[in-house]
Amino acid sequence: MAIQLMINGKPESVDVPPNMPLLWVLRDTLGMTGTKFGCGMALCGACTVHIDGEATRSCITPVSSVVGKKITTIEGLSPDRSHPVQRAWIEVDVPQCGYCQSGQIMSAASLLAQNPKPSDSQIDDAMKGNICRCGTYQRIREAVHRAAELHKPSAKSARLNGADETGDAQDNQPVETVGAI
Ligand code: FES
Ligand code: FES
Repeated sequence: MAIQLMINGKPESVDVPPNMPLLWVLRDTLGMTGTKFGCGMALCGACTVHIDGEATRSCITPVSSVVGKKITTIEGLSPDRSHPVQRAWIEVDVPQCGYCQSGQIMSAASLLAQNPKPSDSQIDDAMKGNICRCGTYQRIREAVHRAAELHKPSAKSARLNGADETGDAQDNQPVETVGAI
């Protein structure tokens, strides 16, 4: 039976089992490979997306549980890499191999939507579920602070570009993803 989803501001209809993890639907059914598969057990954070603005592990989220909710993936975070977190990540040159980074960015964006000026310990706490095998943690922390500095002016322009209060763009313009595999 077809399941109706709202992904990056766009309605999608998918014919998949209701208990299929959202990550499988995104990557295998819809071809949205910006969101990564790491562990499949909610242990690494590579699969992080936003569900109604909350950072969520899509590998353990049954697709039926997100019907009627707003799903945002790395592809929909902004139409043109202008989200403050994306700008900060580029400025600080955070990624090494890049595999974990879309999940890191989604967790950081969710953190800043809830706490626009996080401390080091608040950043570490919010990001601790996102594992980076390359050890980019120092740069991630620096980039979250930088994104916090960029957040206010950008939030205004994001609203002009159709983003909601979480900073997630809603016009479904494709975004070049970090390390799409
Ligand atoms: S793939 Fe979902 S947390 Fe690792
Ligand atoms: S940049 Fe390589 S795993 Fe994080």
